[in-house]
Amino acid sequence: MKGVVLAGGRGTRLRPMTDVMNKHVLPVYDEPMIFYPVRTLIDNGISEILVISTPEHIGGYIQLLEEEFDADFSYKVQKSPEGIAHAVRLAEDFVDDRFAVVLGDNIVIDDLSASIERFEASDSDCMIFLKEVSDPSRYGVAEVAGDEVVDITEKPAEPETNNAVIGLYLYTDEVFDRIPDLNKSDRGELEITDLNESYLDDGRLTYSVLDGEWFDVGTPDGLLKASRFVAEDA
Ligand code: G1P
Repeated sequence: MKGVVLAGGRGTRLRPMTDVMNKHVLPVYDEPMIFYPVRTLIDNGISEILVISTPEHIGGYIQLLEEEFDADFSYKVQKSPEGIAHAVRLAEDFVDDRFAVVLGDNIVIDDLSASIERFEASDSDCMIFLKEVSDPSRYGVAEVAGDEVVDITEKPAEPETNNAVIGLYLYTDEVFDRIPDLNKSDRGELEITDLNESYLDDGRLTYSVLDGEWFDVGTPDGLLKASRFVAEDA
């Protein structure tokens, strides 16, 4: 399985730092943020990795990642920040079959092998990962009934459940047929939740509950929490 790390975007919640630098280079304790999602893939046996970032910042990531990791990296530029699903579309030439997408501001510390095996053996085209949180309205939220996801909503004002949809997704290359059908959201982006909802509507979506640790480090609080965790765990 190949992997894609999305490291573009505006980083609005981390301004003013992100006015002058890409957020995925900001430190989580003693390492740049992007090392963590890359390590999530490598630690789970995924060593062919496409990194997508902005025209201004992709060069820095080449330098950082090639020096740090012994993996087979490819790079692609997302010319404008048009959303997560828009960025996934840029992976079309890189992907051949099933693949993982991880958001560059998500830290996922877990053994994902059982979930990956289950996805590979299934006839589902999309697997999302859920984690119970206390503040679900900041995230995509999923409602589950037994083995099935019955609803996904992006940042609901009044969430029905505490299940956040974390920034880690497994797809098949069939995803590239779906993305062109998406419409931009009110924030002017192709939303990953709309993409995942299309799988839900077609009965092609499955889910896994994350046992391990998860941090969204796209906010100052998230960065602080994750940095503390890493520092104490070191
Ligand atoms: C994105 C997704 C959201 C997901 C979150 C995880 O939100 O749209 O569904 O729960 O990542 O970090 P964003 O950070 O782009 O607002």
